[in-house]
Amino acid sequence: MTDSQQYAISEWPDTAEIYARLKELIKQPPRPIRRDKMDEFLQYFEAKCRKSKELTEAAMQYIPGGVQHNLAFNYPFPMAIEKAEGAYMWDVDGNRYIDFLQAGGPTVLGSNYAPLREKVMEVINRSGPVTGLFHEYELKLAQLVNRLMPNVEMLRMAGSGTEAVMAAIRVARTHTRKKKVIKVGGAYHGWSDQMVYGLHIPGTGRFEAKGIPRGASAHTQEFYPNDLGALRRLLILNRVRGGTAAVIVEPVGPESGTRPVYKDFNQKVRELCDEFGALLIFDEVVTGFRLGMGSAQGYFGVKPDLTVFGKCITGGYPMAGALGGRRDVMMHLSAGIGGTGERAYVGGTLSANPLSCVAGYYALLEMEKTDAPVIAGKAGDRLTKGLNDIIDEHHLPFVAYNQGSIVHLETAGVMLLDFRNLLKIARELKPRNHMMQEMGAAYMSQGIITLAGSRMYTSMADTDAVIDDALSRFEVVLSSCE
Ligand SMILES: Cc1ncc(COP(=O)(O)O)c(C=O)c1O
Repeated sequence: MTDSQQYAISEWPDTAEIYARLKELIKQPPRPIRRDKMDEFLQYFEAKCRKSKELTEAAMQYIPGGVQHNLAFNYPFPMAIEKAEGAYMWDVDGNRYIDFLQAGGPTVLGSNYAPLREKVMEVINRSGPVTGLFHEYELKLAQLVNRLMPNVEMLRMAGSGTEAVMAAIRVARTHTRKKKVIKVGGAYHGWSDQMVYGLHIPGTGRFEAKGIPRGASAHTQEFYPNDLGALRRLLILNRVRGGTAAVIVEPVGPESGTRPVYKDFNQKVRELCDEFGALLIFDEVVTGFRLGMGSAQGYFGVKPDLTVFGKCITGGYPMAGALGGRRDVMMHLSAGIGGTGERAYVGGTLSANPLSCVAGYYALLEMEKTDAPVIAGKAGDRLTKGLNDIIDEHHLPFVAYNQGSIVHLETAGVMLLDFRNLLKIARELKPRNHMMQEMGAAYMSQGIITLAGSRMYTSMADTDAVIDDALSRFEVVLSSCE
């Protein structure tokens, strides 16, 4: 690591080695927390989280399942959070947690960063959060993103990453006049009809597509992560089936790099897109500005035609979504009454509101000034190294790896199960899922909040002391595994 490090990733992980370790993890029987220890961890919730329990039990009556966020833990019951600041969150019972959820990734500066909050409040005090007409911060944000990421010649704000992906696909189809969209199996690109396909686990196709008519995903296709031969075959077949409008990838690999890509993967996909006249869409909802101010495309040195943003684009404030890219492609989105050219229709009452734009603008400026992505990346490196030391010390088959501030800790390996082995899926999906829930609950009982018990986002607020404290808490849980 040098001081001139520009990106959060100090060294691209050895992809082949990670896959070898993950394969070994999945081959072995699960190693859950010992029963007596798990009972001890669960006691924490009954003893210390009374108010959370009461509130979320009451919510069950009015809110389906009691929680409204897919990332919320509901085992043994959901937690109600009252306060967040920097590296920490506090629940309604006053318990403090080290926050490695970081709202699912948008807060590289740390939660509730005060200098940013002040800028947002100034705008709210003047115009309120929304007027429906143009605000200068829309321009400032688009200009800033263009300076940081020159491939983003133009920017259009959206309500969320999901919406921005919908816009990307629509505009790609309008521009190319082709139909098919190819994604990597296991990748998450939001929950639009066409993208609930091959979710979380490669090869699962329409497994999660309840309530979605077949026709809606008829032109969506998936290929196995890193399998460039399979991508080429799809591109060839599609030539006689309406053509490929776009290939969409998460540049570090599906599910925020849970299945990491080989370092030259994105460049190879770029070349295939050029060969077959398809647009390349980078879904940088997670990686955008988290991997560095130039995002994943800057890190890999690959130029996508379109870039999808979410999360960091509004610095953790609402309406986090945007689409950016080549001017000629983006012009299909021109809005306003009497727009010109062939238009790909998108909308949104609250899109591009002054609150989101001022938040995004100052968050990105502040991240650039403080070097937040690199600091967060170094925290991710420290956390990963410490976790691997614990894993080795206790002779566990678990695997920790990171792409800068995106840290993976695979213990149950649910997302790494192979749907081509149906017998193993039938036997292991449920117990491994349960183990993941238990791991998440156990970490929480020790004062750590993770994403689904297997991922951590670090932020600029994660000092060495915070990470070292977290590691001693992880050790309590990991040393309790069978
Ligand atoms: C890679 C990726 N794309 C798209 C989305 C969807 O974004 P949103 O939740 O803002 O709709 C997510 C959400 O986590 C994501 O991780």
